[in-house]
Amino acid sequence: MRILFLGDVVGPSGCKAIEENLKYQIIKNKIDFVVVNGENAGEGGVGITEKISEDFFNYGVDVITTGNHVWDEKETAEYISKENRLLRPHNLISPSPGKGFEIYKSKNGFKIGVLNLMGNIFMKKCENVFESAKKFVLQNTLKKNYDFLIVDFHGETTSEKMAIGHFLDGKATLVIGTHTHVPTNDTRILKNGTAYQTDAGMCGDYDSVIGMNKENSINKFFRLEAKKHFPAEGKGTLSGVIVDCNDETGLANDISSFILGVDLKNTN
Ligand SMILES: [Fe+2]
Repeated sequence: MRILFLGDVVGPSGCKAIEENLKYQIIKNKIDFVVVNGENAGEGGVGITEKISEDFFNYGVDVITTGNHVWDEKETAEYISKENRLLRPHNLISPSPGKGFEIYKSKNGFKIGVLNLMGNIFMKKCENVFESAKKFVLQNTLKKNYDFLIVDFHGETTSEKMAIGHFLDGKATLVIGTHTHVPTNDTRILKNGTAYQTDAGMCGDYDSVIGMNKENSINKFFRLEAKKHFPAEGKGTLSGVIVDCNDETGLANDISSFILGVDLKNTN
């Protein structure tokens, strides 16, 4: 089993990079299951729509995860109730529409659990993510409830992400961070066999400030006259990881960085 996880798709540049590359990369890299964080895929670089989600599924995405911007497009609250391939953070304050965990069937017949969590530090208020993760692993077990478990931890701080990685080590196939839009260079397998990277990076235009127009962002930092943030419009780069899984244990044999595009050093 080979899993491709791609970080936050930002605006039209990110969507176009998915459209132009994903189908071929799935074939080229013999990918069996694709998860993409899509919470910034909207026209304005925040939120996600039904149309964008459907496009992603058509390009080969199996599951879309999200985070703090999940509700930025008004239609999402209704759409998520009828589309179980779109997840929102599991630890949102209840009641919230949709789900943060689901089990899917991969093309090659395995049961894949996908869990979407959101950090507590510098993020929107949500339930304590460590308590939520603890409760989850008490109720769900690798190779019993599902063959593989992919965890998207949507959070701001590296420490919180690393801690959840170690906490879930041996209980998940992959723990990967999202939200900062910058890929970290700590791609590795943890002591008990879980593949890990602190942040997957974004799928979008890197000639920007985390996907947004750079001149406008700089002006905002200088407190000069500036518009509301809007996405950079250059060519998008895909960023994430590929995990080679052990079909017997459900843990990882290998993980490698997947970067394909124009501004970052490519790994694929
Ligand atoms: Fe986010």
